[in-house]
Amino acid sequence: MDKIKIAFFDAKDYDKNSFIEANKNGDFEITFLETRLTSDTYKLAEGHDVVCVFVNDDISSEVIDSLASMGIKLVALRCAGYNNVDIKYAYEKIHVVRVPAYSPYAVAEHAMALLLTSIRRIHKAYIRTRDFNFSLNGLTGFDLHGKTVGVVGTGKIGRIFIDICRGFGMNVIAYDKFPAADSGIEYVSLDELWERSDIISFHCPLTDENRHMVNAGSIAKMKKGVALINTSRGALIDSEALLEGIKQRKIGAACLDVYEEESNVFFHDYSNHIVNDDTLARLISMPNVIVTSHQAFLTNEALTNIADTTLANIKEFFEKDTCTNEVCYKCDKVATCKQTHDKKCF
Ligand code: NAI
Repeated sequence: MDKIKIAFFDAKDYDKNSFIEANKNGDFEITFLETRLTSDTYKLAEGHDVVCVFVNDDISSEVIDSLASMGIKLVALRCAGYNNVDIKYAYEKIHVVRVPAYSPYAVAEHAMALLLTSIRRIHKAYIRTRDFNFSLNGLTGFDLHGKTVGVVGTGKIGRIFIDICRGFGMNVIAYDKFPAADSGIEYVSLDELWERSDIISFHCPLTDENRHMVNAGSIAKMKKGVALINTSRGALIDSEALLEGIKQRKIGAACLDVYEEESNVFFHDYSNHIVNDDTLARLISMPNVIVTSHQAFLTNEALTNIADTTLANIKEFFEKDTCTNEVCYKCDKVATCKQTHDKKCF
């Protein structure tokens, strides 16, 4: 068989290094493209077998039709979330595979890093001491020990975050649409979670159902001074409502690794530009908001796992009649195959 040709969109140096290493035997021909996959750029995939994409590439119905008409068989996501793919529309047109887990520790540890940075004012102290300002005024934080953390989504990342929180002596409550049996986790309703939590951390996928689950109504139910951590997907939070909650002093801290309009700005250097997103600019200007640009996954371990699993997914798809990590509309109404299929789904 000829080498499998991969059009690799939105390629960054760290992606190239890990994929070149994972492809050291030269089984694949990879074209690294800096641009994102959109309805304007899909033509760059002409002549390839697979498109490899990340969180902010746009795999809409229009792009799916275009890729399928060019003979492309597979969309290989090099991430876990797939909210940027029209999975329902893709069914029977193009296959989609993903990397279900690459390092849940990376994301859970980043969530705790953001929380500690924020509530202990490390981001302020770092800048101060670099300027030889050793004053402690305004740096007072609070203990995590004894505080209640509400975890939304108790899958791979949520469970690790829970373990980390328990290590800090925190009380953990959780909400999950599909609570795990015998997990020893105290599950509560969403309303109870909003009301009881000092800290709330999001570890669930973004779906039509939970888009803007943090909104004016849910914020009104939260404790005054609550700290929110979002390392999941930006649109779980209505950014305007968040801003209003911060301005009203209801929200004590917001730790955001994701942002609902991130695809316009994240992963790019705009330090010499005027950023047009007023909501993001206002959020970043707040002393109690920390933004990282979808960085939670970014560890050496995760990058190696992403590259190895993505290439293994592609190889499996072309060499065997299996779809271990296929994302399939048919199996579970926009959920994954859960590795139950021994054949391609169509
Ligand atoms: P997972 O699939 O192991 O767990 C997700 C959990 O959310 C499951 O227990 C599921 O039952 C629950 N869930 C599903 N719908 C829900 C709803 N409407 N409300 C509450 N819970 C719901 O996923 P994993 O690996 O723990 O990842 C969680 C999320 O983290 C991903 O969906 C992705 O959006 C995000 N992520 C972010 C990264 C980053 O770099 N910031 C990297 C990797 C994942």
